[in-house]
Amino acid sequence: VTGSAPIIAVDGPAAAGKGTLSKRLAEALGLPHLDTGLLYRAVARLMINAGLDPASTSGESIARGLSLADLKRADLRTPDVDAAASLVARDNAVRQALVDMQRLFARKNGAVLDGRDIGTVIFPDADVKLFITASPYARAVRRYIQNGGTDDAADRDQRVRTVEIALIERDHADSTRASAPLRMAEDAIKIETDTLTADEVLAQTLRIVRDVLKAK
Ligand code: DC
Repeated sequence: VTGSAPIIAVDGPAAAGKGTLSKRLAEALGLPHLDTGLLYRAVARLMINAGLDPASTSGESIARGLSLADLKRADLRTPDVDAAASLVARDNAVRQALVDMQRLFARKNGAVLDGRDIGTVIFPDADVKLFITASPYARAVRRYIQNGGTDDAADRDQRVRTVEIALIERDHADSTRASAPLRMAEDAIKIETDTLTADEVLAQTLRIVRDVLKAK
């Protein structure tokens, strides 16, 4: 990829802060950003709305017809889509159908792409590969707060624990599936965000990205 616009892969488990980071990283670097989780979510949403069950039907034809406009829908982060997207993401035919779209998105102007398999499958030759992670507990607390939970709620610990268990289950499903499982690329730079604020993660990754790109 050297010599052309940079491609930056940001992978990691659910709720590690990849989304916010990638958006801000892309802004700071003047690159387009693609949240690749939205591809699987959009296929899931279109299947649900068409009355198709992702547990028993392949979303391949829907994936082949997907366009960037489908990613702008407002109804991609509902609990039914969370569950359906994880089934859709296990379907190798769907994954294959979405490869070209992801590659084409970045080809012209470079991009920051975040997901699970960007550094391993979609762009094994990305200019920079980041693996953003945090403990299940830290991720559960963030997701709980994102969902409107407060630190002084009487049932806080119990609700955080429920989110944590769901995250551990999803990590397990994402890491053990046969097709493009979540795993860190050997040449990725791992960033543990448990004790860092979002601003600190951004500052640290910007420094790393600029250093790596300068050395190219
Ligand atoms: O990151 P997210 O929660 O929006 O992802 C939605 C689903 O898609 C989740 O089950 C993981 C899966 N996914 C994937 O398999 N590969 C990607 N590159 C991005 C997301």
